[in-house]
Amino acid sequence: MKKLQTQYLGLTLKNPLLVSSSGLTNSIEKLVKIQEQGAGAVVLKSLFQEQIIMEAEDALRHNAYPEALDYLNAHTQDHRTGQYTQLIREAKQRLDIPVVASLNCIDDNDWVAYAKEVEEAGADALELNIFIIPAKIHQTAAQIEEQYERIVKKVRQTTKLPLAVKVSYQFTNLLNVLERLKGAGASAAVLFNRFYEPDIDIFKMRTVSSEVFSSGADIRQSLRWMAIASSHFDAKTMQLSASTGVHDGTAFVKQLLAGATTVQVCSALYKQGVEVVRRILNFTEDWMDGKGFSTLDDFRGRMGYGNISNPAIYERTQFMRYFSSVE
Ligand SMILES: Cc1cc2nc3c(=O)[nH]c(=O)nc-3n(C[C@H](O)[C@H](O)[C@H](O)COP(=O)(O)O)c2cc1C
Repeated sequence: MKKLQTQYLGLTLKNPLLVSSSGLTNSIEKLVKIQEQGAGAVVLKSLFQEQIIMEAEDALRHNAYPEALDYLNAHTQDHRTGQYTQLIREAKQRLDIPVVASLNCIDDNDWVAYAKEVEEAGADALELNIFIIPAKIHQTAAQIEEQYERIVKKVRQTTKLPLAVKVSYQFTNLLNVLERLKGAGASAAVLFNRFYEPDIDIFKMRTVSSEVFSSGADIRQSLRWMAIASSHFDAKTMQLSASTGVHDGTAFVKQLLAGATTVQVCSALYKQGVEVVRRILNFTEDWMDGKGFSTLDDFRGRMGYGNISNPAIYERTQFMRYFSSVE
């Protein structure tokens, strides 16, 4: 059945549903179950630069010799990356669907060398999970954006793998940043990552984690930007993958209508079980039948910014009376 077939990152996917990078994609057992439910591809759990640095520092705290830091760093990195490349190798042996590796980077130093290891282990593509928290008062937006570009350029020089960059919506001009990431060598952007956010327990007087999983209502931000961005980028040179708030078939179809090349799901599997993958795909096929669409190209992007009669709706931000029934 070719009805849902699509191209993403130079790969042919039997459908545009990816299970996104998370604890759902960190073991072979879980990946096999995801494939059984019909997913088009998987993005493996990220290998975190920050985590490896923290683990090495933690090991040093329990070691009397500061000179050991280099050794511990190298050891922790080798151990972690060895586990990761092993996961890629096994995934490639056991799965028929494409396997996208994911690296979390915060700078463009030695770390980018892992892109090559990921390629050699057999990954089909690479997603870079980048978020540089702007917590330094004198660092300008331009400097931070240049750092994103530098990371992508360096990774582009390191590997031939097709590259996607998973970003947050927190840019003053997201479209401009995406254009520059494209220039730096990215073939796709994932809109958007969802981050760990802190909360405060006022009784225990300590910081805790806020809700980790998204809800269906969280689709709003990614839907707006998918609709706008898809009208600015030709999917031949910069594809867009939707992430955040896709919990059912309706939301999945909305993102395709907004112009997504692929749609990633995560919290929905945590909350409803892996079977939600099959339900979303079945819903999408039934909906296409009902509308008389035989391929994704028959409707993808039809509700994007450039394809509707009142595109300004995607630019509205204020709750003026005209746009909202709530007083
Ligand atoms: C428990 C958990 C772990 C995650 N781990 C990663 C990760 O390692 N790398 C990454 O890029 N995104 C990670 N994410 C973000 C998801 O891939 C996804 O982008 C985000 O949850 C929004 O999609 P959703 O609304 O479908 O959950 C994680 C999300 C959750 C809930």
